Amino acid sequence: MAVLRQLRANDEREPRIRREPARMDPILNMRSERIGLGPLRADLIDTYQRWLNDFDLLSMVDRRFRPLTDDWIQSWYDRQSRANSDCLVFTIWDLATMTPIGNTALQDIDSRTRTAEFGIFIAEPEFRDGGRGTEATRLMLRFAFDTLALENIMLRVYEYNERAITVYKRAGFREIGRRRGAQRYQGRSWDIVLMDITPEDFNDAAAP
Ligand SMILES: CC(C)(COP(=O)(O)OP(=O)(O)OC[C@H]1O[C@@H](n2cnc3c(N)ncnc32)[C@H](O)[C@@H]1OP(=O)(O)O)[C@@H](O)C(=O)NCCC(=O)NCCS
Repeated sequence: MAVLRQLRANDEREPRIRREPARMDPILNMRSERIGLGPLRADLIDTYQRWLNDFDLLSMVDRRFRPLTDDWIQSWYDRQSRANSDCLVFTIWDLATMTPIGNTALQDIDSRTRTAEFGIFIAEPEFRDGGRGTEATRLMLRFAFDTLALENIMLRVYEYNERAITVYKRAGFREIGRRRGAQRYQGRSWDIVLMDITPEDFNDAAAP
């Protein structure tokens, strides 16, 4: 029993990040200074499940709140990991620690209208506010405009998510409208802000 108690005590003292498969050697599709973007990975399904069950995170990202079971996450992974031309989901990696820190995606990619919808989250709080979200957003936009030849990317963001709005405006997104009172958060209704960006609007820090 004493050994078990000691093991538990050690576990509680471990910083959160140590529970992750730290310093992995990920396959990366794209990289910038601090972050890399790579494919979804089967050995990270538990990590994705933990992220998508974090209701604090979901209050910034999604209007649906529901506990996601093993079966749900497995079928989400199976769907996303198969060839899927209208949705590209990446794992975001912190390059300094080689830690998976979040996901970013282009969804509803329509090659006829050359449009898509952008989404991002950095799930590990200790990796927020360090410029990684700005870098990942710019990397995704560069890929969307330069490689996929898209012409317009839209996103939805809750009006209380001022940090995300700062990041999006910095990349060149502009507000194009609001769905009024369509989000509940902390006991009141808030607007969903719609933003979009074209290649001409894109403020790419890496551009010459
Ligand atoms: C939104 C998110 C992707 C941004 O990534 P990040 O790495 O944290 O952001 P960055 O460090 O690149 O930039 C954040 C900027 O917002 C600023 N900021 C932070 N809190 C802010 C606030 N309450 N109001 C306004 N600006 C704020 C920061 O100061 C920083 O600007 P600076 O670089 O000029 O100092 C990330 O925080 C996240 O995933 N959050 C949770 C999920 C989420 O909100 N996803 C977006 C859903 S639409």
